Formats: sequence, structure tokens, C-alpha cells
Amino acid sequence: MITRYVISLMNYYLYKQRPMITNLYLNYSNRPLTGIEIGTASGINAKRICEQLNMRTLYCIDPWDRYDGYKLMHKVPDLSVLEVEARKNLRGLPVKFIKQKSEDALKYIPDYVDFVYIDGNHEYEYVKRDIELYKPRCHFIGGHDIDCRAGVKQAVEDTFNHYRKIKCDWWVRNQSCNRVR
Ligand SMILES: C[S@@+](CC[C@H](N)C(=O)[O-])C[C@H]1O[C@@H](n2cnc3c(N)ncnc32)[C@H](O)[C@@H]1O
Repeated sequence: MITRYVISLMNYYLYKQRPMITNLYLNYSNRPLTGIEIGTASGINAKRICEQLNMRTLYCIDPWDRYDGYKLMHKVPDLSVLEVEARKNLRGLPVKFIKQKSEDALKYIPDYVDFVYIDGNHEYEYVKRDIELYKPRCHFIGGHDIDCRAGVKQAVEDTFNHYRKIKCDWWVRNQSCNRVR
């Protein structure tokens, strides 16, 4: 337990790896995984996921477009610039792009995946809905920005009695959904 914590922190500070992803590595080592990132932006984190884990497929879900209800977190006025960047940054890696909002993307992904990493719309109702929609379909669910976005923290606390948190990441192992074989 302590070793995992130390390794996660070390990866976070030295290599900018997200603690949930390091935790997946510590759990799964080099086993092939199928996962989802909700909110890919320019693909920086997706690229790190593919570099750290042995990904069979990483589904990258992002509308790369403005919509009512999304308070823009990026300085760029045109989100399609991020899509172009993502496609460039992730070229040659085992990713599938799903250009949809997370609530509309379910029909394009497998019924079960090993993990879902939520980093899309950080408003309470969106995070809550992402958790509700994706939790039944994955072995690990978690995400980013729990330490700095009140909506994320509230949604996680309203859903789970217990969750792991290291720095900006949170995650939960879903015992009722096995990992993909
Ligand atoms: C914080 S950025 C993601 C950063 C990325 N995960 C990383 O660490 O490199 C948030 C992204 O979520 C996307 N987004 C916003 N609402 C979304 C939704 N409903 N479903 C999926 N993605 C969404 C935005 O277009 C934006 O690119």
C-alpha cells in the first residue's frame, strides 16, 4: 500500500503521470488493457496512458466542440484545433477516436472495459452522469481534478462511500464488473 503511494507520487512529480494510471500499472503490470478516456483535448494524457500501460485499445471520447453547459477550460477559442493536435499526438498508438459527448458515446464503445478515466466536463451534473453511465461498464473508474474542481469532488462523494485519492486523481475498483480477458 505504502509502496504504491510512493510510486504514484514519484511518477506524478517526476514523470507527470496521473496517479490513477500508475495505480493501473501497479495492478495490471504489462497485461493488455482496454480503456476509455472521457475528455481527450490534445491527447497529452492519452499519449501518456498508451506509453505507461499495455493498451489493447484506448477509446478517446471528446466532442471537440462547444456546447451549452460546457464552461471552456482551454484558452483556444476553437476546440477543433485540439482535435487536430490529438490526432497528431496519438498517431500510431492504439487509440480509437469517438467524436461525441460522453453521454452520446456509449453505443460506440464495448460493453465492458478495464478502466474509464473521466476528464471531460467538470461540472457536478456532468461528472455525476459520467459516473452513473460508465460505472456499470468498467472494472476501475476514476478521473482527474478532484482536488481543484468542486463539482468533481461533490459528484464523487455523492456516489461512493469510499474512493482512493492521490493528488488530483480519484478512483474506485468496481468489484461487480470484472476486468476484460
Ligand atoms: C480538461 S480537458 C481534457 C484534458 C486531457 N484529459 C489531458 O489531460 O490531456 C477537457 C476536455 O473535455 C472535453 N469535453 C467537454 N465536455 C465533454 C463531454 N460531455 N464528453 C466528453 N468530453 C467532453 C472538452 O472538449 C475538452 O477537450
